[in-house]
Amino acid sequence: MSNTQESKIQAEYITKCSELIREKYTQAPSFFIQNAGCQMNSLQTETVAGIMKQIGYQVVDKEEAADVVIYNTCTVRENANQKIYGHLGHLKSIKKHKPEMKIVLFGCMMQEPEVIDKIQKDYGFVDLVFGTHNFHKFPELFFRSLNTNGQIIDIWKESDEIVEGMPADRKYSFKTGVNIMYGCNNFCSYCIVPYVRGREKSREPEDILREIKDLVADGVTEVMLLGQNVNSYGKTLEHPVTFASLLQQIEQIEGLRRIRFMTSHPKDLSDELIEVMAKSNKICHHLHLPMQSGSSRILKIMNRRYDKEKYLELVSKIRQAIPDISLTTDIIVGFPGETEEDFQDTLDVVNQVGFDTAFTFIYSKRTGTPAARMENQIPGDVVKDRFDRLLALVQEKGREASSRFLGTVQEILVEEESKEKGIYTGRTQYNLLVHFPGCKDLIGKYVKVKLDTCKGFYYFGSLAE
Ligand code: SAH
Ligand code: SF4
Ligand code: F3S
Repeated sequence: MSNTQESKIQAEYITKCSELIREKYTQAPSFFIQNAGCQMNSLQTETVAGIMKQIGYQVVDKEEAADVVIYNTCTVRENANQKIYGHLGHLKSIKKHKPEMKIVLFGCMMQEPEVIDKIQKDYGFVDLVFGTHNFHKFPELFFRSLNTNGQIIDIWKESDEIVEGMPADRKYSFKTGVNIMYGCNNFCSYCIVPYVRGREKSREPEDILREIKDLVADGVTEVMLLGQNVNSYGKTLEHPVTFASLLQQIEQIEGLRRIRFMTSHPKDLSDELIEVMAKSNKICHHLHLPMQSGSSRILKIMNRRYDKEKYLELVSKIRQAIPDISLTTDIIVGFPGETEEDFQDTLDVVNQVGFDTAFTFIYSKRTGTPAARMENQIPGDVVKDRFDRLLALVQEKGREASSRFLGTVQEILVEEESKEKGIYTGRTQYNLLVHFPGCKDLIGKYVKVKLDTCKGFYYFGSLAE
């Protein structure tokens, strides 16, 4: 169910907050915001930042200088949680000298009951806490918080509502992410996302198309469609739509030049999607296809619902249809019960596929998931050794794969000036980063660049026209 009425109510709270702020401050107050986790979290960070600016706050890049400090949290691995507790320890000492400072926490980590217990017990100085299901209530909650000195914690267990039409403060004017679905129904046995993000919900195609058309009218030419498993998009809608057909409709939007998407679950990647990608002029030839493990035995226990052979078959089918495709992946090392033989299967798939990039993770035990209850957890030193070996292979294969573009001319979308003055960066459709001598006017434009030197994971090039 989508709800535009709710966004109107929240817009009224934005106005109420700005009235309060104008009464309280003579100069614009400031906020600091930090994001963790996936691109879906980044989008929500942009929404909260957009709301804060509408209220009348200006952004600052140091916690110490801010009247409001906001963290959007992730909990996919334990180290993300540890970082937040670290930040809070630091904020406690700042707040001692600056009691007026407000601290706001939201996002996936807040959906865990033990985190909330800990915040109530040990972090009483945190002012406002909300979760993923009532994210759209931020203006209302913030208004309540401005009117009290006490701690407000509001966490919902579930919500079937999709709230449309929230504001956003986009990082780039020419490219952005667009959520096409929320939540996940897959319950991979190691993963906490379905517990903290709830069941899979797709946005109506009309809402997605309208948003992208508005974005294009506002200068956007590249969109990244986002969901935990975009290949199952549309299955839960009243009038089901496939992801491939959604892509075809998006492709029709005039002025839009590049379409990307993530994440694709291998079990749901259809022939129809491969066909649509192969024919399209706008869908980038880049596919992020998380494999997690190369061992069929481990994949089964992970509840991924494909095996080593199926994954390799899928890769060869995709490569046949789209020979220049760039493939990237996610891999977990040290899943409970993983043997050296299982790990060798992972190395074997990495060798055979030759991913352009692979994100490698050490398995992290997440309370509440089936894998956390498995007895045969792998000792840290064994995991570390496997992780190092995997990383070395991934880097070697990545260099090999991306060097295939050496000497070619590629179209890139220019993003920004790099750290080095006069050197600009952009991305090819394969998501490969290119540095080149350029000028400010090129930001947001598509230019042809000759890829002169391969620097491993990026290229140095020169303007070709
Ligand atoms: N929906 C996406 C993944 C989202 S989470 C998919 O299914 O592909 C991003 C990545 O984090 C996953 O692909 C996985 O590699 C990693 N991850 C998830 N849970 C993890 C855990 N408990 N320990 C280590 N890595 C994990
Ligand atoms: Fe987690 Fe699996 Fe869902 Fe991805 S598909 S978010 S790994 S449960
Ligand atoms: Fe993290 Fe939540 Fe994304 S747990 S990876 S921010 S969905």
